[in-house]
Amino acid sequence: MPTHWYNFLGDLPGPMPEVRDSGSPTAAEISAQVRPRVLIEQNAPDEQWIAIPEPVVQWLRQCGRPTPLHRAHRLEKHLGTGARIYLKREDVLPSGSFKLNTAIAQAYYAAEEGRTTLVTETGAGQWGMSVALAAKMFGLRAEIFMVRCSLEQKPYRRHYMELLGAEVRPSPSTHTAIGRKILGEVPDHPGSLGTAISDAIEHALGHPSAAYLAGSGMPHVYLHQTLLGLEIAQQLKETHGEDLGVDGRGDHLIACSGGGSNLCGLIGPHLRAKADGADLRFLAAESTAAPRLTQGVYAYGRTDLGGFTPEVLGYTMGESFIPPPNHVGGLRNHHSSALVSLLRREGVLDAVAFDQRTALEAGRLLLQTEGLLLAPEAGHAVAAALDVAAKADAQNLEPVIVILASGAGFLDLQGYDEVLLDA
Ligand SMILES: Cc1ncc(COP(=O)(O)O)c(C=O)c1O
Repeated sequence: MPTHWYNFLGDLPGPMPEVRDSGSPTAAEISAQVRPRVLIEQNAPDEQWIAIPEPVVQWLRQCGRPTPLHRAHRLEKHLGTGARIYLKREDVLPSGSFKLNTAIAQAYYAAEEGRTTLVTETGAGQWGMSVALAAKMFGLRAEIFMVRCSLEQKPYRRHYMELLGAEVRPSPSTHTAIGRKILGEVPDHPGSLGTAISDAIEHALGHPSAAYLAGSGMPHVYLHQTLLGLEIAQQLKETHGEDLGVDGRGDHLIACSGGGSNLCGLIGPHLRAKADGADLRFLAAESTAAPRLTQGVYAYGRTDLGGFTPEVLGYTMGESFIPPPNHVGGLRNHHSSALVSLLRREGVLDAVAFDQRTALEAGRLLLQTEGLLLAPEAGHAVAAALDVAAKADAQNLEPVIVILASGAGFLDLQGYDEVLLDA
């Protein structure tokens, strides 16, 4: 397992756009109050390699890092493709998704700073499960605002968090002023990541011993997730004898994208190689429920609805956009992060959108061929890989395709059932 995270900010294709932060208090002041100091520093670290604290390394190892890189021979055979398809198996982590990688790091820094409670939002619940577990590792409490429609669709994620002692509340929440305001305007609001981030930050602001943790969208989260891209490069070489980015082959790194953290963790360590001419394609698979990178406008906006975060330049559906309550809770953000948007804008990143049926069908195919049941979010990356393999075959190319299998799908079976079996 890598002992350092890789800071890829120096490898971006251009400067990060300025944020707009004129509120009172400013978003920077709010952030300084609710976030552990080290995490804010890790948004723009000085060094290129950052040592992972030893207790974090120990927990990550205990949780199964490095996770396997699985060659999908049976899927390849089923497709009749010349591509070599690999899956990075984040679904094997104990909380069920890659989110645990940053949850452990963030919980560690919060505990080091003397905070006693972790507060966060969660969409489909995978991030919340990871925070609930990481909180226990470092003797902390967890309070989690979960998007209401997801909480109703996926009650077992709530049970997992509560079993770990976490307090779970639906968002929009009656516990916060912003939640009550949103419910006043739209009484049956299904909730969104925008409502849940606002609930969580407002709640953390009222509790000085609490730390607010972000599950995605922030450079420090992307930094922690660089373990993904680093491990993959090493595993491709050492276990599978593959080099990545061989000329004329069109190798692909593919991840689904909500806040962009499994995507950036996957591609961040490889940006330099691509800029230096390696034949590497990066592909974001998003949901048609919130198709920011493929259909959004490039504009300033906030990721929350309460005005606690700064306005950042990114591909957006607009702050009033309420995503339809489908089974893909992790991809329903209305605004893409500045960093992912920059990569897209500069042509470093391609993007494609799938509806949930297509993603779940790809997930079913993976189950039936490889025996792996992935979360619907990860099904988007699988669907994208199927298209990439078909196009490569049509061009007589034999690329390496790496799919980030971001999470397990056992707790999403209701979604699979409703969409694919109940029709
Ligand atoms: C399993 C899974 N995959 C992917 C995502 C999307 O997150 P991100 O875009 O930050 O990688 C989520 C978010 O909740 C998730 O739970």
